[in-house]
Amino acid sequence: MSPFQLTRTLPEDATGAALREDVLHGLTRTPKELPPKWFYDARGSELFERITRLPEYYPTRAEREILIARSAEIAAASGARTLVELGSGSSEKTRYLLDAMPDLESYVPVDVSESALRGAGRALLEERPGLRIHALIADFTEGLALPVTPGPRLVVFLGGTIGNLLPAERALFLRSVRALLGPGDALLLGTDLVKDEGVLVRAYDDRAGVTAEFNKNVLNVLARELGADADPEDFDHVALWDREHEWIEMRLRARRAVTVKIPELDVVVPFHEGEELRTEVSAKFRQEGVRAELADAGMELSRWWTDARGRFALSLATVAPAAL
Ligand SMILES: C[S@@+](CC[C@H](N)C(=O)[O-])C[C@H]1O[C@@H](n2cnc3c(N)ncnc32)[C@H](O)[C@@H]1O
Repeated sequence: MSPFQLTRTLPEDATGAALREDVLHGLTRTPKELPPKWFYDARGSELFERITRLPEYYPTRAEREILIARSAEIAAASGARTLVELGSGSSEKTRYLLDAMPDLESYVPVDVSESALRGAGRALLEERPGLRIHALIADFTEGLALPVTPGPRLVVFLGGTIGNLLPAERALFLRSVRALLGPGDALLLGTDLVKDEGVLVRAYDDRAGVTAEFNKNVLNVLARELGADADPEDFDHVALWDREHEWIEMRLRARRAVTVKIPELDVVVPFHEGEELRTEVSAKFRQEGVRAELADAGMELSRWWTDARGRFALSLATVAPAAL
């Protein structure tokens, strides 16, 4: 069998149908919003990789620092033979875990971005020809059917991507992750932590404008997939800190009154000057909150590691004994 398999767990047009539904629902309501998964076409995935290298974007460096320091401990604690990674993107930081797991038999990266999965698979196999990679094009919020691979499993969810889910979505998601875990399996979860507002906002509004381009890329996706005629030049990138919810919001703000036609959906979406479309939330966490959310989903926080400056955390969790 080839060491790289790619499986689309969604029906061929599922992505198109989901996009149409999200756009119809999200752009005809007040306030307007879209889920962040639509950023990630090939261009969006590429722009995200550039974001991870920006001086202002500390989360990737902070999480990498923890992985470098703790991968051996994580590997020993999990004893995993299969590593499942949700929202794996380029799998760039995962290499530290893979290096620490010589007995690993299978790597199962899961992402909505086919281009990211293919790129990561190619790069990993060049470095590790013995690794079996079973990549899944799937939406991790839709319930996952994982391939049959040897246990125990370590499910990892890095990059603070969990913060892109709203609290109710997170609760459902964590329950679905819990359902993937059997006795001996574990979850490794990356969460960005609450910190100084200026540091947070700059991480989502960099001087070079890469995050702005990433944010506006969703308009290119709408143009290509649905024929929408939104001009990125008509919108400003906005990043702000919501103190009450402890999350960053990214929005696109209309510079003037704009009417966006979406022929595929047969709708016309008016924006008044200054009207905003929310494109992403990125929640920031505290240890008590992570512990409580895991517990609500039937998991127990067993280890908590942060980088030296306390900016980002990795949590290791297992199924709570009562939930087994
Ligand atoms: C913030 S990036 C993080 C990438 C990588 N894990 C890291 O730490 O650098 C989010 C990744 O999750 C993927 N993604 C976003 N929403 C998703 C969904 N609903 N289902 C599957 N993948 C998703 C994106 O394509 C992207 O690769």
